[in-house]
Amino acid sequence: AHERTFSMLKPGVLQRRISGEIISRIEKKGFHVTAMKIMRISEELCRRHYSEHEGKPFFPGLIAYMTSGPVIAMVLEGENAIAHLRLLCGATNVDEAAPGTIRGDYASVTRMNIIHASDSVESAEREIKLFFKPEEILEYVDDS
Ligand code: CMP
Repeated sequence: AHERTFSMLKPGVLQRRISGEIISRIEKKGFHVTAMKIMRISEELCRRHYSEHEGKPFFPGLIAYMTSGPVIAMVLEGENAIAHLRLLCGATNVDEAAPGTIRGDYASVTRMNIIHASDSVESAEREIKLFFKPEEILEYVDDS
């Protein structure tokens, strides 16, 4: 199905000045970027976005890292966008992220695994709403 997914390039990406490279890989795979913003996320937004991980041992480190610098938040569209983006990103755990995937190629620390990608239709809808107003998401994708 044609889907929307939410993605976020983590602080290390702008810090390392590789955002163009990462976005280029996403575009080459066939996704359309229909919303994008560079922003520094508040602790409150970060906690809401990652609420399912609250209480896990890595949660404080995750919040500290994600609020340490600017991120790039995006809405991506395409056929089976949610699963396709997860495949392109590779495994969350960098020890399992295969070469050729974005994490496999650019990340060596799981907390700093470069990119976030929604894991389901429900998460995608929830996360998109946290970061974007409806009018910030453009409609120009023509799959006909
Ligand atoms: P992400 O896909 O953004 O979703 C949750 C994030 O928590 C994950 O990427 C990692 O950045 C981080 N994370 C998940 N598991 C661990 C872990 N075991 N140790 C440190 N960070 C983790």
